[in-house]
Amino acid sequence: MPTPEQRLQTVDNAIREISHIATLPEITVKIVELVENPKSTAQDLHKVISQDPALCSRILKVVNSSFYGLPGQIGSINRAIVMLGLNAVKNIAIAASLVKLFRGGDLGKGFSAKQIWDHSSLTAGCCKLISDQLKLGLNDEAYLAGLVHDIGIVVEMQFDRNKLIEALQKTSCDSAGAPANDLLTIEDAVFGANHQDFGMALCEKWKFPKNFSYVTGFHHRPLDLAFENRTLTCVVYLADRLAAEFPTPFRADLHSLDIDAGVLDQLKITSDRLKSIRDAMHNIVKAPMDAAA
Ligand SMILES: [Fe+2]
Ligand SMILES: [Fe+2]
Repeated sequence: MPTPEQRLQTVDNAIREISHIATLPEITVKIVELVENPKSTAQDLHKVISQDPALCSRILKVVNSSFYGLPGQIGSINRAIVMLGLNAVKNIAIAASLVKLFRGGDLGKGFSAKQIWDHSSLTAGCCKLISDQLKLGLNDEAYLAGLVHDIGIVVEMQFDRNKLIEALQKTSCDSAGAPANDLLTIEDAVFGANHQDFGMALCEKWKFPKNFSYVTGFHHRPLDLAFENRTLTCVVYLADRLAAEFPTPFRADLHSLDIDAGVLDQLKITSDRLKSIRDAMHNIVKAPMDAAA
């Protein structure tokens, strides 16, 4: 088990090494700055976004997808920004930048960066669903939290691919992707830190809102967070496990799918509510959302 100092050292090292890949595009940084500034208007955001046609079409695709319940109606970016809100547009821009980080091809038997991305997208859809059902008012934030929760694995992949392959092999996943050994313990031994540490450090480097550091750093142990900081991370913890109950692209870091009763308590989820979330998950799995595809 690495000491806290060793862990910090390893993580700093990795983030420095991969900084050439792990930078957010300038336009995303600008959008995040604008949206965080309370004086910004939809017009300011429109000016920046219009410089990026790919982002414009992605925003239109999202606003017109069934995900937002406004199929095929919105043709102008201005209206799309107003409909979605500045925060949602920021999240779309971040999600679009994240996709690039997940490129990286095969990691050996049964693992690829694409599978981790597909797992993250499914978890993101489930996070939004849980947030909707519980009326947490987190929607876009919950979706993005699902997308980034395992980003630490991507940091490991970019930092030292061979070590990640070694760690994944040591989990001895069965044909359904279930690991026989705990990935976090193996990562600690192989890297000197685990994907929670790496993910949290990347979110801090990107100056993401604190909530995303909590999600990446604590999604396997949300009850270790202070009570008032737990909600979003508990949503991700639950979504991660529920998503893995379906034939899943990636669950090497989920040694068990048991759901801690403390997390359900924290979210005030009854067994009836859990059942209705599971039922709704079936629809997501059948028709994966394309909001960040
Ligand atoms: Fe994880
Ligand atoms: Fe996950």
